[in-house]
Amino acid sequence: MVHSSGDPAYALARSPEEYERLGRQALFLHGTTERLLRAAGLGPGMRVLDVGSGAGDVALLAASIVGPQGAVVGIDVDGGALRAARGRVEALGLANVRFVEGDLAAAEAGDGFDAAIGRLVLMYGADPAAALRGVAGRVRPGGVVAFQELDLDPAVGARSLPEDSLWNDTGRLVTEAFRRAGMQVRMGRRLFGAFVAAGLPEPAMCDEALVGGGPGFAGYAWLAGVVRGLAPLMPRLGLDVPGELDTLADRLRDDAVANGTVVWTPSFVGAHATMP
Ligand SMILES: C[S@@+](CC[C@H](N)C(=O)[O-])C[C@H]1O[C@@H](n2cnc3c(N)ncnc32)[C@H](O)[C@@H]1O
Repeated sequence: MVHSSGDPAYALARSPEEYERLGRQALFLHGTTERLLRAAGLGPGMRVLDVGSGAGDVALLAASIVGPQGAVVGIDVDGGALRAARGRVEALGLANVRFVEGDLAAAEAGDGFDAAIGRLVLMYGADPAAALRGVAGRVRPGGVVAFQELDLDPAVGARSLPEDSLWNDTGRLVTEAFRRAGMQVRMGRRLFGAFVAAGLPEPAMCDEALVGGGPGFAGYAWLAGVVRGLAPLMPRLGLDVPGELDTLADRLRDDAVANGTVVWTPSFVGAHATMP
């Protein structure tokens, strides 16, 4: 497995630009993640653990659902991301959201949570079931566990109709970079088995892709941003960084608009279960 960030099993850059990208990605994914969290049963007053909290976007979304009577604790191994997350919480004046630095299964973050959640985090670990078991051990009986993960199909990458070669090639490049870096590229569909192997009940699952076309779709910038996040690692994976990265989003948009194409992101798969 190749690492770009000096810590185990992480393919993306660790930089202020990457934390900003996570923020833009969070806006793009907001609706999909909120639907999952609400379907899982998150509600006012709950104490929630968010693992792999990055720059804090999922923790802040959870905080908006649990309200001032609830509380959210985020865990991440990346101190830089946590500094960004703490800055945002402070700017919002939220007293009920805090972050702990460490591994999701080992950090001193407390237990007896009403819910444990995570987005785009299990795909970076070598043993997602073991990670889930550790996280679930921090949730009280009757509490909920909910995760949202990418499912990247190496045969497809990203879809478009009518076919747009730049969109599809870029999707394949992202998938190949994650695959070569040793990430769990099929984590979305592996969530079911990981929940069961972790001793959780069979999860309820949903699959959402973001689909759009025309000049205003946010997916072009999202896909170009993922390429940018992976770019520092690509040479070590034997992949060429696409030329003119700065204009990739514009070119994805222009191609789609010129051809009247509708484009699909890869699947974002959600899974949730209630603790016995
Ligand atoms: C792609 S980012 C997603 C961040 C956030 N969940 C979101 O959706 O915006 C993945 C985050 O998981 C963190 N991470 C990966 N493996 C971890 C582990 N074993 N323990 C704690 N954090 C981890 C990384 O440091 C990174 O900040």
